[in-house]
Amino acid sequence: MNDDLQRKLIIAIDGPAGAGKSTIASRLARKLGYVNLESGAMYRALALKAIDRDLSLDDEAALVKLAQESRIQLEPTLGGNRTLLDGRDVSERIRERDVTEAASRVSVHPGVRAWMVARQREMGAGGGVVMEGRDIGTKVFPDADLKIFLDADPVVREQRRMEQQRIKGEVAASVAADLRERDHRDRTRAASPLQAAGDAVVIDSSQLSEEEVLGRVEELAREKLGASARR
Ligand code: DC
Repeated sequence: MNDDLQRKLIIAIDGPAGAGKSTIASRLARKLGYVNLESGAMYRALALKAIDRDLSLDDEAALVKLAQESRIQLEPTLGGNRTLLDGRDVSERIRERDVTEAASRVSVHPGVRAWMVARQREMGAGGGVVMEGRDIGTKVFPDADLKIFLDADPVVREQRRMEQQRIKGEVAASVAADLRERDHRDRTRAASPLQAAGDAVVIDSSQLSEEEVLGRVEELAREKLGASARR
């Protein structure tokens, strides 16, 4: 293959919960031979540590200090991504309801965000990454090679999340309410609220299958690789 086609892109996928980011990001990364980094898992890991230590989720200074003392690692494995907090595998625990809510709350603090963004830049600097989150295209990698904003109708997102959660036996109505509350907080916070970067490709997945979204995103990534090969 032409060497330029091997160029390692930085691909940012942002969007609200339930839009399908995680699935698309991990499948796209696999197709391209890239690493998939889930930035939300880092906020979740910090939130878990704050819960375990009984820290107030409103105490920005304490949360920043906690982050500075923590080792949060995203470890891609063949079976999916693992999240390590100070060497402990917390991949399952951070998906639980209390941590999900707390992650959204710790992420409103500018100091916490600054720490996260710095770590995320280090992790993705070499390229060959599909990083997903809320502010990847706007703050973490404003010069990313490709920016996708994956959105979906709130009702569709709630339904998708309920289907995922029902497997774990949670009550559907409360899942929908949680998602709405978290969405509102993520979109209206003062520091880096969830929004599409001006140069992001916005894909509304409400009426699209997973395969269709993946096909579109892969096509965009391959166009970028082709364009860099021609330069
Ligand atoms: O993507 P997720 O659901 O795992 O994210 C958990 C929370 O972390 C989400 O409610 C908002 C926050 N977050 C963020 O503020 N910025 C990111 N880049 C990723 C997540």
